[in-house]
Amino acid sequence: MVIPEAGLRLKNIGKLDMSVGDAIYSLRAIRRLKPDPIPDEDLWTVLDAARQAPNGSNQQDWHFVVIRDPEIRRQFGALFRKAWWAKRNDAGYFKPEDLPDHFRSAMGLADAIGESPVIVLACAMNLGFRESVIPATQNLLLAARALGIGGTITSLHPSVDGSIKELLQIPGSVEIVYCVPLGYPKGDFGPVTRKPLAEIVSEDAWGSAQRSL
Ligand SMILES: Cc1cc2nc3c(=O)[nH]c(=O)nc-3n(C[C@H](O)[C@H](O)[C@H](O)COP(=O)(O)O)c2cc1C
Repeated sequence: MVIPEAGLRLKNIGKLDMSVGDAIYSLRAIRRLKPDPIPDEDLWTVLDAARQAPNGSNQQDWHFVVIRDPEIRRQFGALFRKAWWAKRNDAGYFKPEDLPDHFRSAMGLADAIGESPVIVLACAMNLGFRESVIPATQNLLLAARALGIGGTITSLHPSVDGSIKELLQIPGSVEIVYCVPLGYPKGDFGPVTRKPLAEIVSEDAWGSAQRSL
């Protein structure tokens, strides 16, 4: 793949012209994705947005593995499903009927992630850099949102780490922090449901802001 560099900054600022507010307030987890391909140019835009993120001492020890090949996506999809169920098993759930309702949508993604047109693995090149991959991944998702591309942050499971690294030739020393499927949404972007501010904010001392904010 040919990755462009020159002129990306100005071009992308122009393309990402959705208001920050609109992007933040409509960025929900999009798990049902159309198989339609994402144009290269848009993919470079979201990756370029990711690397603008703050990061520890500006070391930029992150790496983004983009999976687009259909056969690799299929193989990755099977491993992702295994990882997803390993996480559920760890929590005591062993079959679909056991799962609380809030897992339904994530289970659907676990079954279908290999059909996402693009899967990005956001990686930390060394121990201690994982925290810096977090803001980069959020930047990536916000930029994707501005381009009408949906996705969600997902995590994997240690039991599949070796197989995924083997599949994608990722060095053992690298930490795969997040797996982000990307594609055009089958549903809509939209508002998210979150706890009221008064429940999660304190002023000056813990628990002190139980008033209308
Ligand atoms: C660290 C982290 C791990 C997550 N792991 C998964 C996952 O494995 N599978 C999944 O479908 N969603 C995953 N999510 C997405 C969350 O379930 C989602 O952000 C949350 O339910 C809020 O959804 P909403 O933004 O649509 O309201 C993860 C999110 C975060 C921040």
